Amino acid sequence: MKKILVINGPNLNMLGIREPGIYGELNYDSLVEFIREKADALGLETDCFQSNCEGAIVERIQQAYKKYDAIIINPAAYTHTSIAILDALKAVGLPTVEVHLSDIGSREEFRRISYVSLYALKTIKGKGFEGYADALEFLSKQSY
Ligand code: DQA
Repeated sequence: MKKILVINGPNLNMLGIREPGIYGELNYDSLVEFIREKADALGLETDCFQSNCEGAIVERIQQAYKKYDAIIINPAAYTHTSIAILDALKAVGLPTVEVHLSDIGSREEFRRISYVSLYALKTIKGKGFEGYADALEFLSKQSY
């Protein structure tokens, strides 16, 4: 069974409270449950990790080396700033899909830059929770 690590970055623990008009009304626990259900249906094993700290995310990516088959990451605000997260993903070399709940391409100018996109196989944006389902489906079809 393929093992996928799902990483969510800063403020995604505030889902349901933070800007519901943009990020929806469901909370982070609902997102984790949604991911588990989709993964089960696809025969994938997932671990979900959320942190507000860049270093903790870098460490979790490093720990994934040889332990997971792929990574799904929503780096949240670190998308637009973190070379450290990009470098960590490149270092472990796992197939990676980048997900954003909102459409980062049609919001503020500063959200259009994504460092992680320079490495990710695919970027899914603006589809809410469904974006994570699409990422799982994409990775379930990859041969690695
Ligand atoms: C986000 C988009 C980012 O610009 C923002 O900083 C987030 C969430 C998204 O899922 O739409 O925190 O990654």
